[in-house]
Amino acid sequence: MRAHITGTGSYVPAKILSNADLENMVATSDQWITERTGIRARAVCGPGEACSDLGVKAAQRALEDAKISASDVDMILLATCTGDYPLPATACLIQQQLGAKRAAACDLSAACCGFVYALSIADAYIRTGMRHVLVIGSEVMSAITDWTDRNTCVLFGDGAGAAVVSATEGDHGILSTHLRSDGALWELIAVPGGGSRLPPCEKVLAEKLNCIKMKGNETFKVAVRTLEEIARETLTANRLTVSDLDLYVPHQANVRILKAVADRLGLPLEKVMLNLDRYGNTSAASIPIALDEAIRQGRITKGSLVMLGAFGAGLTWASALIRW
Ligand code: UT7
Repeated sequence: MRAHITGTGSYVPAKILSNADLENMVATSDQWITERTGIRARAVCGPGEACSDLGVKAAQRALEDAKISASDVDMILLATCTGDYPLPATACLIQQQLGAKRAAACDLSAACCGFVYALSIADAYIRTGMRHVLVIGSEVMSAITDWTDRNTCVLFGDGAGAAVVSATEGDHGILSTHLRSDGALWELIAVPGGGSRLPPCEKVLAEKLNCIKMKGNETFKVAVRTLEEIARETLTANRLTVSDLDLYVPHQANVRILKAVADRLGLPLEKVMLNLDRYGNTSAASIPIALDEAIRQGRITKGSLVMLGAFGAGLTWASALIRW
């Protein structure tokens, strides 16, 4: 038995924040954001809209696409760093909303790599007997954004993507997953306050320590190196080469990172799925949103060889190779 993605879905909030809007909020310009990141717009939640709301909508679309009902789902894995509440797991709120009565549910915290980490866990459970695992990446990055910090506020967006991972026979499906971390670099991307190290207090709010801080330039260099390394490792493990790939679906953080990785791998840019111009960096949601769009655009069809590549806080990096 192999695990395969049998349905995908995505959802982004209706409210759009353009680079022009950001020009009115911080000392930035459309030209700087576009040239340095490739981002032109991002979707952001409206008042009262939270992580589970986005996740439920993406999940419903994925279930419909997979042609299974919520009651068929054995497990829900939600990758997020912006859940509705510190407790309980947001996956449980999604489980209830979907009516997935038989499903186990928990959240997974691996930042931008969360979806690929969760996919890897789903793969392992399917290989040991589960039938259907719902893997979701849902983020409300706007809730942990310091809207006065131009270094970060132009980068992120909100959204959700989901995939139904099901047991399947035959030689298609998830061929391998590869997960890495290096906690020595945790301070490159962090939300320093609001956890058990520094519980919520006036200082946390005054200094916006409940918001994401990132050393962008250092992160950029590690991202390029690790994405290239893990892509090569993944292909080698499967005795395949870059030229065998039909589509690379990477985490959507910065178009310059992805161009550099494609260049180092010798992968033509036409084989790289890019949608960060419209959504920005949606952390754990970026890969499942991009995957869903690639499928709906007909860029992934039966037989396609697809590689996912992720990089983010932790630091973590990860990849998955899938024969469609
Ligand atoms: O998803 C998790 C993983 N995250 C990433 O992979 C992000 C990786 N990093 C990046 O994408 C890039 O490093 C950034 C887009 C964050 C920054 O681009 P950069 O080319 O590395 O710029 P920089 O940080 O070296 O800053 C260059 C200049 C600075 O000014 P000075 O010190 O040279 O005068 C910044 O203050 O650009 C300035 N700057 C801005 N200017 C206008 C930084 N943010 C802005 C802004 N608008 N929004």
